[in-house]
Amino acid sequence: MSSEVRFAGGVFKEIHVELNGADVDTSLLKKEEHSEELWSFAGKVWQQRLETEYRSVQIMVRLLDDMMGAGDPIDTFSGVADMITDEIHHVGLCASMVRGLGATPMLPNPVALEAPEAYLKQPRMQRALSTAVAMLAVNETISEGYITDLHTRCKHPVIHEVLDRTLGDEETHNAFGWTYIEKSIQRFPDEIMTGLRSLVEQSIRPHKTHAEEIIARLSFNERSLSAWPDHDHISLGLFTVERQALVYQQTYEEILAPKLKKLNLL
Ligand SMILES: [Fe+2]
Ligand SMILES: [Fe+2]
Repeated sequence: MSSEVRFAGGVFKEIHVELNGADVDTSLLKKEEHSEELWSFAGKVWQQRLETEYRSVQIMVRLLDDMMGAGDPIDTFSGVADMITDEIHHVGLCASMVRGLGATPMLPNPVALEAPEAYLKQPRMQRALSTAVAMLAVNETISEGYITDLHTRCKHPVIHEVLDRTLGDEETHNAFGWTYIEKSIQRFPDEIMTGLRSLVEQSIRPHKTHAEEIIARLSFNERSLSAWPDHDHISLGLFTVERQALVYQQTYEEILAPKLKKLNLL
């Protein structure tokens, strides 16, 4: 059974606010300005985003533990500790959004994240590199592509603020991730590249397969972002599946693939 996201309040809330800023005021989200269908869809999408952010915190915590276990340089820990705080910030923002949309923010179910067996068998230094590749390089770059597209178009003051605060954090995550990978790879023999390239392929595959299925259904003229202005969806910080697939494709071609190729990971 999954449980509701809670705030302890008092000194804990004070520290949380000091590190992450105050909660967003969602009173400007007005149900009557949207269709019933879109409003309830928005509650579900922001709940999914909350769960993704929660998993990000857990994976970043694991990354810090692995890097410390690998005896990495101590100044690299600060960047990860900062990312952990940022991801907690994002969970809080998504929780406020879910509540503002009239739903109850819930923890992921199961709430604990168990690491896969194959991952646990690797030495710490390799675990940290694998997490950096799958999580920081692939997944964070794709999600930054999505958030950037929403952020540019969404004018709703509350949602724009949520996207703005999230995007502000992602820029450092990106810089940290790509540099960590570049430096860490140098500590391994060349043979590691085959395994890393297949990890990249596995991490991209679900996004790619999903986007390709959607794009395959579109006519030539529909295969452009301008064909999907998403006027209604954007008012609640959402995508149509078509626009999201096209944004994925653009992010992959223009940002992710060139960066991966530069590190010989694609
Ligand atoms: Fe995040
Ligand atoms: Fe992030």
